[in-house]
Order: sequence, then structure tokens, then C-alpha cells
Amino acid sequence: MGRSLSGSRVLVLGGSSGIGLATAKSAADAGAKVTIASRSGEKVNTAVAHVGKGATGVPLDTTDDAALEAFFVKNPEWDHIVVSVAAGKSAGLHAMTVAEAYGNMNAKFWTAYKTAKLAKITPEGSLTLVSGFLSQKPNKDALLQGCINAALESLGRGLALTLAPVRVNTVSPGLIDTPIRAAMPADKKKAMLDNAAATLPVRRVGQAEDVADAILMLMTNPFTTGSTLFIDGGGMIA
Ligand SMILES: NC(=O)c1ccc[n+]([C@@H]2O[C@H](COP(=O)([O-])OP(=O)(O)OC[C@H]3O[C@@H](n4cnc5c(N)ncnc54)[C@H](OP(=O)(O)O)[C@@H]3O)[C@@H](O)[C@H]2O)c1
Repeated sequence: MGRSLSGSRVLVLGGSSGIGLATAKSAADAGAKVTIASRSGEKVNTAVAHVGKGATGVPLDTTDDAALEAFFVKNPEWDHIVVSVAAGKSAGLHAMTVAEAYGNMNAKFWTAYKTAKLAKITPEGSLTLVSGFLSQKPNKDALLQGCINAALESLGRGLALTLAPVRVNTVSPGLIDTPIRAAMPADKKKAMLDNAAATLPVRRVGQAEDVADAILMLMTNPFTTGSTLFIDGGGMIA
């Protein structure tokens, strides 16, 4: 294994769309045996067909404790796991119910925590979490998202000690153009992405592949653990 993904068993939770899907595709292209999991069977099937190279998929809602546990009882051993599950609606303190807030924390933070507890990752393997730049740059319209991301980055550092020698890292994306904003009106979305592109030092928003490249590096670099890698087009310094 080590620096090569060839023949390694890679699980991507939240792998049917966006960053997870791009990661699944890159890992499969690098020779990994990829498994994609997310809630929608239809999205999983489409993703498996897109990734090809013998990839498999399973419909799985990671907020369902019993289902997640049953999945890892049936499929305990992995070389690399990537958690790219999205949290759900992003909103400010007064625009979200407490139940929605709990749901978001459950989907994104507790999925990572439970996965670390349930999976058996081989000693040379890795766990990669996906957080987000709001951990460092709070936004009043996405208050909780920043908190979840900060918690994930802390979890990643702590797990790097807890699960050692398994390596645990976190990738923290900036604004990435993925289906996560599919529900946004097209003109509003375009204005937001154009504005971000104009202000970022790299003068463009990110693509899922930009983040997938970083995740593959974290999976395969044997001296990297406890890191949070910002893939944000310079958003942190802009
Ligand atoms: N895009 C950005 O600008 C950006 C910026 C910073 C951080 N991030 C973070 O990056 C991660 C990936 O985001 P993305 O942009 O790639 O989003 P995306 O395209 O919406 O993909 C999210 C994935 O999560 C799956 N998912 C959601 N809830 C799930 C659940 N309960 N159980 C299992 N799978 C679930 C979705 O599939 P199903 O619907 O089939 O479940 C989908 O495969 C997220 O954590 C997001 O917060 C994104």
C-alpha cells in the first residue's frame, strides 16, 4: 500500500456527489477498489456507473446509527475511508430550528465520529475528513456550519493520536462549485460564485477535483497525519 492506492479498499461516505464523487473517481483511476455510500440509491447507482473500474455502491444513511453499525459489521476492514457527507441546510442562528441544527451536526460531525469508532482501518491506511473554511472564518448566515467544521478539524487531530498508526487528516475546502447548492436559484448562485471568484487570489472558485487531489495526497502521503489542509483558493488570506 503506502504511497500507492492500487488494490486498496477505499470507502467514500457521501461519495455520490461533489467532492466525494470526485474523490471516488480519482481513487478508482489510481487503482483502488472503491465503495460509494450515500442515502439515495439512485445517486449511488449513477455515481458507480460514472466512476467505473469495478466500483461498488451501497445506499446508506449515516445518521441511522443501526444502519451504519450494520454496514461496518458486514464490511469492517478498509484501507482508506473518506467522510464527505454534507450537513444539510446552512443558515443563521434565527433561520434554523434547533431540530435542524441537531440534524446538521448529526449528519456531518457524528458521521465522522461514529465511522472512526466502528471501522477497522488497516495500520498503513487513513481516514480523511472534510470540514470547510467556515471553521476559521465564521459567517453569521452559516453559524453552525463553522462550528461543525471546527469540531471536525479538532476531531481529526485527536483521532490522529487515538487511531495511530492509522493516519487521520482533514481537508478544509473553500468555495467549491458542487451540487451542494443545487437548490439555490441559478442567478443567485452565479452571482455568489462570480463574486467569490473575483475576490479570491486565484480568481476562480474551486472544483470538486481540486479537493479530491488534496484528499488523494493525504491518503497516500505516509508522513501526514493530524493535518488540516486548506484548499480554498487563498480565501483565508483574502
Ligand atoms: N461545496 C462547497 O463549497 C464546500 C465548502 C466547504 C466544505 N464543504 C463540505 O464538503 C463536503 C462535501 O460537500 P459537497 O459540496 O461535495 O456536497 P454534495 O455535492 O451535496 O455531496 C454531499 C454528499 O453527501 C451525501 N449525504 C448527505 N447526507 C447524507 C447522509 N445522511 N448519509 C449518507 N450520505 C449523505 C449526499 O448523497 P445523498 O443525498 O444520496 O445522501 C452526497 O453524496 C460537505 O461536508 C460540505 O460541507 C463543501
